[in-house]
Amino acid sequence: MSDHNNHKEEQHGKKPGTKREMSRRQFLSYTLGGAGGFMAAGMMIPMIRFAVDPVLQKKKASDWVKVVEESKISNVPQSFTFQVHQVDGWYESDVELLAWISKDSKGNILALNPTCKHLGCTVNWNDNPAYKDQYYCPCHGAHYTPEGKNLAVAPKPLDEYTTKVENGFVYVGQLHANTRV
Ligand code: FES
Repeated sequence: MSDHNNHKEEQHGKKPGTKREMSRRQFLSYTLGGAGGFMAAGMMIPMIRFAVDPVLQKKKASDWVKVVEESKISNVPQSFTFQVHQVDGWYESDVELLAWISKDSKGNILALNPTCKHLGCTVNWNDNPAYKDQYYCPCHGAHYTPEGKNLAVAPKPLDEYTTKVENGFVYVGQLHANTRV
């Protein structure tokens, strides 16, 4: 009807566009378009939030894992396995890790990661008669001191875990570059 009126106004010499009323078609199109946009935003916001949420979440501070009684630790490295809960974006898992734990000459606890710093094989303690009282990697012959210092092949010392002793137990925390050597 309004289209018809507009047409009539043009026919009677009125300038179109000076004061135009909204047609029913325009009204419906704006209303439905606005409602549609509102509903789409309502659906999209949770999806966007789900997509970026893990990225925005603050990383949890390192969790300590109880590994062994302190009384069992000597200056001879021993290997211990422990489990950590890992969160990688949307994927959560429990991973079993290994540490070589010993006491240094001052009685401080040292927990070394067994991953060779050459190409990632696993080192063992006192495993090769040619390198007595050292960590040795069977893949390409890297060897390390009891504190993890790299003596050959590997470009860096073995990484170490943060450690603490609480109520007679050794706890390990985050892995980091070796600070002893
Ligand atoms: S990976 Fe250990 S020596 Fe190459």
